[in-house]
Amino acid sequence: MTPLIRQLATAAAAAYRPAGRWAWHFARGKLGGDPLFAALLAPGLLPRRGRYLDLGCGQGLLAAWLLAAGRRHAAGSWPAQVPPPPALAGYHGVELLDAAVRRGRIALAGADHVSLAGGDMTAAPLPPADVVTLIDVLHYIPPDAQRALLARIRASLAPDARLLLRVGDASAGLAYRLSRLTDSLVVVAHGGRWPQLHGRRLADWLGLLLALGYRCETHPMGGAGFANTLIVARPD
Ligand SMILES: C[S@@+](CC[C@H](N)C(=O)[O-])C[C@H]1O[C@@H](n2cnc3c(N)ncnc32)[C@H](O)[C@@H]1O
Repeated sequence: MTPLIRQLATAAAAAYRPAGRWAWHFARGKLGGDPLFAALLAPGLLPRRGRYLDLGCGQGLLAAWLLAAGRRHAAGSWPAQVPPPPALAGYHGVELLDAAVRRGRIALAGADHVSLAGGDMTAAPLPPADVVTLIDVLHYIPPDAQRALLARIRASLAPDARLLLRVGDASAGLAYRLSRLTDSLVVVAHGGRWPQLHGRRLADWLGLLLALGYRCETHPMGGAGFANTLIVARPD
């Protein structure tokens, strides 16, 4: 982990202190340890400035991360050799678990144009966004619902908008099972019930997205033996 990533993880996680020790420790561990968050700062993955719709947002870590990066950049202490971070023009998260919504609302209170709604993403309205995210989420809903949600997102996307999703590869054996075990434990730790998960092979996720009118680029995102891939899907 670079010093920048470590410092950003500490700064972003600090927002969760008023939400309790568990929320704070979880935020610090996830933001510092999950390679996704460092990857989001790579040039080109996210727009220079954008409105985010984060489906299955948990406690809103994505917003906390981008806000912490934006604050550091605005303070003039962003390293000169690192491209400026993606700026958050707005953020709306949707999350099923009340406890996670509550923690996220406490941490993100006071941030401009940031909101978290409790609810089921399969039925939630999809407000206009430059970036829609489904990070480690899609396998929580059954295959028909996955297809319907991805089709609804595709219909809502402006031509220059994008969907960012991270999925597991169900053909990856132990690494896949380890990823899914972690996801289940996270839900239980947030106060939910042990979930039933609905994985697909990576090739099948990509085939589904293609069939629904997306063009995709993939970024393998293993880390700690996990079998995850970040997919950037744009309207074709
Ligand atoms: C592994 S966590 C990932 C959370 C967040 N995306 C992150 O990266 O920190 C998956 C989240 O999806 C939520 N979720 C599962 N099914 C959902 C649904 N139908 N609608 C909204 N959220 C859902 C779970 O409650 C859980 O918080």
